[in-house]
Amino acid sequence: MDDTDTLPEALAEEIRARVFGLGFIRLTQTLTREGRPFRISLRPVRVKGEALTQAEMRDGAQSQTRNLSEPAARKGLEEILAQRGKRELHLVTAEGDLHVRVTKRGRPLVSRGRPKAAGAPPPPAAHDRVKRQPLTDFDAAPLLRVLGIAADDGTIRASMRGKYDQVNALLRAVEPLLPEAPPPSFTVVDCGCGKAYLTLALQRFLTLAKGWPDVRVLGIDRNPDVVAAARAQAQALGVEGAVSFQAAEIAAADWPKAPDLVMSLHACDTATDDALIAAVRSGAARILCLPCCQHELHHALTGGGPMRAVLRHGILRERLADLLTDTFRAQALRVCGYRARVMEFVSPEATGRNLLIRAERGLRPGLGEAVAEYRALCDFWGVRPYIGRLVADDAP
Ligand SMILES: C[S@@+](CC[C@H](N)C(=O)[O-])C[C@H]1O[C@@H](n2cnc3c(N)ncnc32)[C@H](O)[C@@H]1O
Repeated sequence: MDDTDTLPEALAEEIRARVFGLGFIRLTQTLTREGRPFRISLRPVRVKGEALTQAEMRDGAQSQTRNLSEPAARKGLEEILAQRGKRELHLVTAEGDLHVRVTKRGRPLVSRGRPKAAGAPPPPAAHDRVKRQPLTDFDAAPLLRVLGIAADDGTIRASMRGKYDQVNALLRAVEPLLPEAPPPSFTVVDCGCGKAYLTLALQRFLTLAKGWPDVRVLGIDRNPDVVAAARAQAQALGVEGAVSFQAAEIAAADWPKAPDLVMSLHACDTATDDALIAAVRSGAARILCLPCCQHELHHALTGGGPMRAVLRHGILRERLADLLTDTFRAQALRVCGYRARVMEFVSPEATGRNLLIRAERGLRPGLGEAVAEYRALCDFWGVRPYIGRLVADDAP
């Protein structure tokens, strides 16, 4: 180490002034420590009316968050500025971005970005609880640019704001399924991956934010055009070795054995069931499913007697069919030895189809009680759903 390792004083002074000045949004420093990614970030928050600085430290898979008063935050910033060796600093303020990459030889390479435009993510609001955005846990700029969510200058395109929020919501939804410690390798299959926004975002998040060493993702989609576009995006990001795609029907695709996670996100109608069936048959450890439009039971529900009053109304029939379809799916997963939970994914204001199914293998498959419940449900509604392929003798 020598003195050239530290930042020039004028630059350090500018960073201090901007972190404690108006319009500060975030400062992040990333480096590698003992072979693990190490990241520290500061951002302003307001807790019970008091303006504080939130410091978040991630050391490999461990993370720690503290809210600091100004003197403690100033001390923390000095520790960041005193860091030596190869590292990157990214400062975001309303005036624009400052990016400093310090090379292995201690040379700081400085670049500056323009102020964020109207479509940029807003600075943290003054509220009591700050909602975490997984896409700010790592340098997502290249990903967002390649996906077309951000413009060349890094600002989120106004027309892509919904996609940005959706990717964050997905990353939050997947987190409870993830192992605590970084696994040596992790394989994901994304069924009906479409344009691969979520496929690529998950690979980048697990690799860059979590620091997992070997994350492989296979995206499957029957549409060869979206698969070609997704391959080009993976190449543009330089992750084509880790993220591959197959243009195939989910039911006919070539699957890895026992993937760690299978996702089925908004795959239409029974494509969701095909994904669940293939996931179970391949021995997937975890499943994340966001169902989409469902038609199967909508047509199959005939229920006479007291149910006639419900089924007469198109919207009630549709909602009932949606609820039952997901009930059958969760129960079929239970029969197959998965602990399945059905939860709300995003607020009902965003979309009425806002449920997710999260499942983890861990029960004994074929439990008599689970099978009996599944069959009783079929008999009650007089239906044999597609997902019944997972329950012996219950195929439609
Ligand atoms: C609504 S898009 C969702 C894309 C992506 N998962 C997302 O959430 O942004 C559904 C995708 O599933 C694909 N798909 C539908 N049925 C399929 C099937 N049986 N096999 C493979 N792909 C299918 C479609 O081609 C389409 O790209």
